[in-house]
This record gives sequence, structure tokens and C-alpha cells, in this order.
Amino acid sequence: MPAKTTLDAPAVPAEAVTPLIRGVVVLWRLTEAGGTLSASALERATGLARSTVDRIASTLARMGYVRLDGRDVVLAPRVMELGNACLAALGLPSLLAAHADALADELDESVSLAVGDRDGIRFIHQATRRRAMSLSFRIGDLLPAERTAPGPLFATEWTEAQWQTWRERRAADPEDRDFPAVPPRRHASSDEDFVRRAARARADGWALDDQLIEQGLVAVSVPVRDPRAGGRVACVANVVSHTSRHTAAQLRDTLLPRLRTAVADMERELREAPQPRPGRAPAGLATWTGASKQELGREFVESLARGLTVLTAFGEGRAELTLTDVAQATGLSRATARRALITYEHLGLVRPSGNRGFALTPRVLSLGFPPLSRTSLDRIATPHLAELADRVHESASLAVLTPSGDEIQYTARAATTRVMSVNVTVGTRLPAYVTSLGRVLLADLPAGERQLGTHGELRPLTPRTITDPSALAAVLEEVRVSGYALVDEELEEGLRSIAVPVRDRTGRVVAAVNVAMHAARRSVEECVRDVLPELVETAGRVERDLGVAGRFTRVALS
Ligand code: PHB
Repeated sequence: MPAKTTLDAPAVPAEAVTPLIRGVVVLWRLTEAGGTLSASALERATGLARSTVDRIASTLARMGYVRLDGRDVVLAPRVMELGNACLAALGLPSLLAAHADALADELDESVSLAVGDRDGIRFIHQATRRRAMSLSFRIGDLLPAERTAPGPLFATEWTEAQWQTWRERRAADPEDRDFPAVPPRRHASSDEDFVRRAARARADGWALDDQLIEQGLVAVSVPVRDPRAGGRVACVANVVSHTSRHTAAQLRDTLLPRLRTAVADMERELREAPQPRPGRAPAGLATWTGASKQELGREFVESLARGLTVLTAFGEGRAELTLTDVAQATGLSRATARRALITYEHLGLVRPSGNRGFALTPRVLSLGFPPLSRTSLDRIATPHLAELADRVHESASLAVLTPSGDEIQYTARAATTRVMSVNVTVGTRLPAYVTSLGRVLLADLPAGERQLGTHGELRPLTPRTITDPSALAAVLEEVRVSGYALVDEELEEGLRSIAVPVRDRTGRVVAAVNVAMHAARRSVEECVRDVLPELVETAGRVERDLGVAGRFTRVALS
């Protein structure tokens, strides 16, 4: 990752915004560390004073980019909006990811897409079928070009200056320490090897990686050329396997032809795709920062927060923005927006583009994206459940419907310390028809697809259990319309619970959250009056995180 060994580090421009540089460095160190560092570890990793680290952390926490968990600073899903801006502006994942996924399914091998990032390659999509045998890379991971199959294909387009940068980096970092995603380089390979591989890649139109990253890991790659960009390499498609399944030569002989036809389809997709509709121009992205400053005072570094919103001004159909565009989208003055852009250009996160415009570079994906790119709904929900449990002093849970559709399974939970809290653990399964969580999940299904009862039987678990199918159908209809389910002593005497749905980006209900309590603690009316709004708020936070995390990655639901 950038800026550890500083190769010819260009001098910091006088107009650069120091707090923004520091905030970016904090995000880089957190990303390299896998997402979590204690404040004192951050102090050591960044060389910043503790008070500075604390202020940056509280600013990032205010933005939802990190969570403060005791002494730890933890990357939070919302930080993915930075990488999302980059992937959306690039436009390639939206057009090509489905092709890559289909190829991975068909071949039962991992398929990835990578773009060139200076003298490295950076992944923008992963359809992973990797077996336990080898490491697998994440969206946003950066690899040294010469240790990969796509690297030589990108190098066919390098300028002499880029080759020079590459040579200098190789000499300055002989073990690839600046690439934390790969194991250290062990075998000295000469620069000439890579020059030859690039020449061969130019002649062949494909390239191989025969265990250059680690023993066993092999890949074959084909460039995806963008007809709208004069046939330049837009990205490279890779099929990745292990020598226990295919040698590199077998990959070339058996899978390369299929990869080539898939790439032809991808190129057709690029040719035929309509110009991206300019996404609705965001406005006033940074206008909230003043209020946070008022509230948090010294603990809120406004220039950092404002600077970060500049990155989110970019997006689909907004790949190239002028200073005026950025100022408009963020609500920042032109002078402030300009200083942020100068800072980003210095950090390699923004480059000049077109006529007086600016574009994000793939390096923006190094700001927190990789560690979060394989998150799951239970991980997203857990901190929000803990906050909810804290606020209502009752335990809170997340559950999904099991594949059979007649049971729910708890996937996350935050318990209170109450002696008499309701006792379920993650993994517990309960009949859907008689739980608030289950009713919320069933209610979202078309009536014909709802599995009512266990094996079709509505067994009474207490005297209050609804056992009449048409009465239950009517209740589910009510749940669907009202947006919540309240189950009062139907599962267990003395147990009352209330649940609301959690929807994904498409509006589909994928999970439910509930609060369960002893019936003596709150009346049904109090439950609706006091707990429901908190529950709705929590579900909204989970949905917002899920929406950000799920835009370009698949979030596991259980
Ligand atoms: C990967 O997608 O994991 C990958 C791609 C190309 C390589 C190695 C690994 O050369």
C-alpha cells in the first residue's frame, strides 16, 4: 500500500490540507492492519501524536467510517462509500461483474477483474471459488504487476517513465513489503524476466501466472479492451486456480479459449452499453459538517470531513469532474474544494483528466475497502444491535429465514445483562410462524410461497398460539402493511417480542431484527410506543450499511 517506503516522495504542495493527509494515512494503516488497530497502535503506525489520532478517529467515527470500540478503532461499512465512488465512476463492475460471475459458475474456478494501478494491479471484482489451498484476494487489494498474470498485459501500455518507476520500486522494495496482500518475494526474478513477459503478452494477447505469488497459485489472463477508449486495456479478466486442479499450461490449453469468448462478450457489453446516465448530481454533501463541528468542537476535524466528501462527489456518470462540479456537489467553496483536490493528487488518489477535470484513481480502493469487502450481515448488524440493546435495556437479535422457509435462524444477537433476559444464542432455530422475526420474514413472501407452520402444521405452543391458517394469513397481511410484527406469549408464556424487517438495496426483506422481553416489563402498547421506533431506527442503520457494503460486493446473509 502507498507511502510506506517513499520512493521519490514528491514534496507536499504548500496548499495541501494536512489534516486530510493525516486522515487518509489513518485509513491506510487501518486497511493494512485488516480493519482494526488500537489508538496506541495507530499512534505508532502513523507517527502522529495521540491527541491527533484521537481527533481523527472521532471525526471518522462521526462520518460512520470507523467505530470506536473500547480502545480500538475499527473500520465501519460506511467507509466503503469511498471505494464505491471509485468503482461507480469506473463503470466496469456494473457492466462486467455479471459476466465474471457467470464464467466462475460455469468453470467452477475463481474469476477476477483487475485494473492497472501505476506499477501494480488492483482488483475491482472477485468471483471467488478458491479452495482452502491458497490465499484469495479481495476487491481493492494491490499486487505488484510482475508477480501476476494481468501485470504484463498492463505493462504493454506503460510509458518509459512508468517502466522507470517500476524499476525503482523493485530496487527500493526487494521483498514487496509495500504490498501487504502478497507474501514477501522470495525468489529473485530479474527485471528482464518481466520485460520479456510483457513482450510475449503483447504478441500473444494473454498471459500466465505460474506460481509467482505463492506456490500452487496459477492464473491465466486476457485483456478487456474498451472500444470507447480507443481499444486501450480497460481491465484484465483472470481465471485463477491451483496446481492441484490445473497446471499453468493446462489453464492455458483448456480454459483460455473459454476465457477469450467471455472477454469478447465483455467487450461487446462495453461497446453497446449506453453512455452512463450522469447520476443525480449530489448537492451539499459537506453541509452537515458545520453542525458536527458545533457539537464536537476540537474532537471534530472539519477540514478532514469536508475533504473526504470530495471523493464521494464522483460516481456513476460522474467519472470526470471539474472544480466547479466538485464545489457544487459538496457545497464547499471553490478554494476549499481545490485544496482538497490538490491534496488528493499529491496522495495519488485523484489525477487530472480531460480538459481541466479530475478523476479518481483506483488507489481510492485502498481506503478501507478490502477488509470490508467480504463482510456479512451479522457483522454489519452486531454493533447496531448492541446500541439498541443499550437503549431499550432488552436483548436484540437478527434472524433470517432458513432455506426450508419454515424456521428462522438467529444470526446475531446483543444481550443485556438483565438476569431474566430471553435466552437464545446465535444459531438457534425456531418455528417462523410463531415468532415476531419469522412473521416479518414470512410477510414479505408472496402468499403462495409462505411456509406456514412446521411441516405445514400450526402447533399450539401456548394457549395463545394462532393455529388457524386463515387467522395467521390475516395476521401476516397486517404485518406486511404495518411493517412490524408483535408476538405476545404465543411462543412461550411470559415472552413478548416485536420485530421489523431489514431490506437490501432492492427492497427485498433479507432479515429481521427484534427485541424480546418478559411480558411483565412492558405492555403491548408500551412496546409499540417505546420499542418500535428504536427498532425502526436500528433496522434503518443496518439497511444503510448493507446498502453501502452491498453495492459492489456480495454480503453474506448468514
Ligand atoms: C486473483 O484473482 O486472485 C489472481 C489474479 C491474477 C493472478 C493471481 C491471482 O496472477
